[in-house]
Amino acid sequence: MTVPLLMAMPGNEKAASKLAARLGWDLGHLEIRQFPDGETYLRLVTTPAGRVVALVCTLDRPNDKLLSLLFAAATARELEASKVGLVSPYLAYMRQDRRFKPGEAVSSRQVAHLLSSSFDWLVTVDPHLHRYGSLSEIYSIPTRVVHVAPLISQWIRMNVQNPLIIGPDSESEQWVAAVAQEADAPHAVLEKIRHGDREVEIKLGDLDRWKGRTPVLVDDIISSGRTMLESLRLLTAQGWAAPVCLAVHGLFADRADVLLAQAGARVVTSNSVPHATNDIDLTPLLAEAVSQIASL
Ligand code: R5P
Repeated sequence: MTVPLLMAMPGNEKAASKLAARLGWDLGHLEIRQFPDGETYLRLVTTPAGRVVALVCTLDRPNDKLLSLLFAAATARELEASKVGLVSPYLAYMRQDRRFKPGEAVSSRQVAHLLSSSFDWLVTVDPHLHRYGSLSEIYSIPTRVVHVAPLISQWIRMNVQNPLIIGPDSESEQWVAAVAQEADAPHAVLEKIRHGDREVEIKLGDLDRWKGRTPVLVDDIISSGRTMLESLRLLTAQGWAAPVCLAVHGLFADRADVLLAQAGARVVTSNSVPHATNDIDLTPLLAEAVSQIASL
């Protein structure tokens, strides 16, 4: 049987080459550049004919990436790849899952429709499901989800003495409790009210019984960083040490990484989005998921 092919979209070269090495798949190449007028030129340098092809493309800053990703998938299909899969460790556009005001685009459904039409399967990491029970509510293709909680617990066990695991809101309670249990640490959840994209109100509640422990704030995403920054501000105002801020996906809009570091936090993320804070490697879990779904 022909060895499947992994191809990295721009910025995903390191993730793709680690994944290819782990899977024993070939690493293909594509060429991509912009014409002077801003349109995209794309060429699959490695021929995909008759092979399973997986494109690796994490989807932070998705508007810059989606169109060329769809071009690459369509080209692989036109050139007779037997299947075209997507490995997208960070899956974008999961947060608008409802029409809150008349006329709003429910972009999670629309992006799911686009990707489901272009790919035969999808592997991703802890998508922000919120009001969806599972990806199958909006994705019509087979999907595999990698869960990072065990790796987060392991990181905490190996790197933090006497931790208190803190989730930012009640929605995260179940996830945070599981992380804490595996890390053999107590946990608490804060109360969060979001007033706008960049405005969050946090209530700490009574954490006094754990005073002296190292606070570890865990969340699925750091986007504007307001959730982490506000939690950190309240904790330090109450005499806690600056926390470790741990997230699956570090998007770091608005220089959130710089602001968190300036506020004294140690910031740690998984390598779902390449960043200097990456200290949790997803390659083995991604490889397992890709190998399962590709053999369907
Ligand atoms: C929200 O439900 C998520 O779990 C995160 O708390 C949120 O996405 C973080 O966003 P930001 O960094 O902009 O506060």
